[in-house]
Amino acid sequence: MLHGTMCVNQYGHLEIGGCDTVELANQFGTPLYVYDVELIRKRARSFVGAFQKAGMPGQVAYASKAFSSLAILQVINEEGLALDVVSGGELYTAMMAGFPPEKIHFHGNNKSPAEIEMALDYRVGCFVVDNFYELDILDQLCREKNVKVNILLRVTPGIEAHTHDYILTGQEDSKFGFDLNSGQAKHALDTALSSSFNVLGIHCHIGSQIFETTGFLLAIDKLFTHITQWKEEFQYEPTVVNVGGGFGIRYTETDAPLEPEDYVSAILTEVKKQAAENHITLPEVWIEPGRSLVGDAGTTLYSIGSTKEVIGVRKYVAVDGGMSDNIRPALYQAKYEALVANKAIHSDKEVVSIAGKACESGDMLIWNIPLAKTQPGDILAVFCTGAYGYSMASNYNRLPRPAVVFVENGQATLVVERESYQDIIKLDRPLYEVVKK
Ligand code: LLP
Repeated sequence: MLHGTMCVNQYGHLEIGGCDTVELANQFGTPLYVYDVELIRKRARSFVGAFQKAGMPGQVAYASKAFSSLAILQVINEEGLALDVVSGGELYTAMMAGFPPEKIHFHGNNKSPAEIEMALDYRVGCFVVDNFYELDILDQLCREKNVKVNILLRVTPGIEAHTHDYILTGQEDSKFGFDLNSGQAKHALDTALSSSFNVLGIHCHIGSQIFETTGFLLAIDKLFTHITQWKEEFQYEPTVVNVGGGFGIRYTETDAPLEPEDYVSAILTEVKKQAAENHITLPEVWIEPGRSLVGDAGTTLYSIGSTKEVIGVRKYVAVDGGMSDNIRPALYQAKYEALVANKAIHSDKEVVSIAGKACESGDMLIWNIPLAKTQPGDILAVFCTGAYGYSMASNYNRLPRPAVVFVENGQATLVVERESYQDIIKLDRPLYEVVKK
């Protein structure tokens, strides 16, 4: 359960990055997302290191949808990674963080003309083109602006990775990408090659929270079958093969992910093998980890409030956040582990279920977890909330979104402020002015 820089200090409190989480909760309030920056750097270095070890050029692009903010993108940039953005908002955040535009890859299945123009004006390094509509607009805008851009074609290889249905994107019946099997991808390549693009290569993403390498290997084999045909037909060889993200993390003890190095080395070995067997010039391999860079580095601290005992059935313990800061349990039945941060070594435990505070019966964070006996005011630490927590947070029930703190070497830095009630009504325009009494 404890991971990264976590430990229990002399007061029996959970400590992360050399900071006492109970003090963090006092100082910054709850709910609070706390990120272990050392662990993020470690994960980034193991992905990058795996390419170096294999002696293969490549790019590790952080999928910023997992968690985007100025500070995290600056850490990612410090570690030398590239960046995947999927919207004008993510792109804007990256630019404001000082991220080098040439290292930004622009994704998305319905980029608007305005977003495409914005990315062109920022001179992003690469567009991951998803469909013919986009190909058309991009071509038109490039001609108008007299620029030539790098593109990857996103293809759907028809491989199902073993994961939750909602987050499958690689199967054929998918809203993403050009379908390989039907010849749609070939048609897209033909169109792209006869337009004014620099077609770097192809991209696929087979799913998320994947624990094995099989899906990646099958996808690579499939890609190379088509690459080999395209070489014959168009005398075209990709210089980049991007296999997306999806590398799993350990949310609970039943999850058994591989190490970043293991995913990467299996992928690189297969690309080398396929390229050699099919007489294709070895392309660069790009990957796009999101969750596996920031997921287990994030912990959410909550204050415990009310409890309700349904005699003989269950004890509910409510916290001051819930589905508004972590939609994943309600949306995907995602499982989490937790610890009472100020009672980290208490042995007097009871099984409880952690409820959120939203007006929704489905707002449950964890069912049936053994925890130290709690009282109102205790601090609950829910682990591995660093990916798709803040980034999917909402203001449901007009709950202000929590603050985000980075901890590293005993230093805590506020990197996203807590929303205020003023922020909550910031965009509202009243029908008439309220006369203050
Ligand atoms: N690349 C592409 C093209 C993607 O669509 C995604 C995630 C990634 C990379 C990063 O995947 P990761 O390494 O984080 O698994 N909200 C869901 C996850 C949705 C993932 C969408 N695409 C969740 O909370 O589990």
